[in-house]
Amino acid sequence: MKKILCVAAAAIVLSGCSGSKDYTPAAGASGKDIFAQACVGCHASINETELTTFWEMTAENTNAAYVSAKITQGSMRMPSFPNIKGAELEAITTFVLEHNKSK
Ligand code: HEC
Repeated sequence: MKKILCVAAAAIVLSGCSGSKDYTPAAGASGKDIFAQACVGCHASINETELTTFWEMTAENTNAAYVSAKITQGSMRMPSFPNIKGAELEAITTFVLEHNKSK
């Protein structure tokens, strides 16, 4: 179910007018703000009991370098956010690591 939602959301972003490439956080935006504006559409809580856990990454991927690169560059299905940089990139990276469950 979650996967289907993600794919549908990705299709909307890819074909829609305002893609992630245009998203620029306000200076000083918190990780929570950025998450609410740019990520929650695809990254909802991982299940009904862990409502504040939005990612489930392998131990190998649970580090700031991997998460920042993923946000900036994206991948096959994850859109890239080239305009999230500096302090805001640090803020959203910290938010991801704080709301991740290692698997
Ligand atoms: C259009 C849907 C979409 C949006 C918007 C989106 N993501 Fe993703 N994201 C995905 C998908 C799908 C994956 C899993 C596929 C992959 O790893 O390439 C993913 C994977 C990730 C991963 C890696 C997880 C892992 O297990 O390696 C991180 C970290 C991540 N997203 C962070 C974010 C952040 C932060 C934002 C907001 C700035 C965001 N995503 C916005 C769809 C999205």
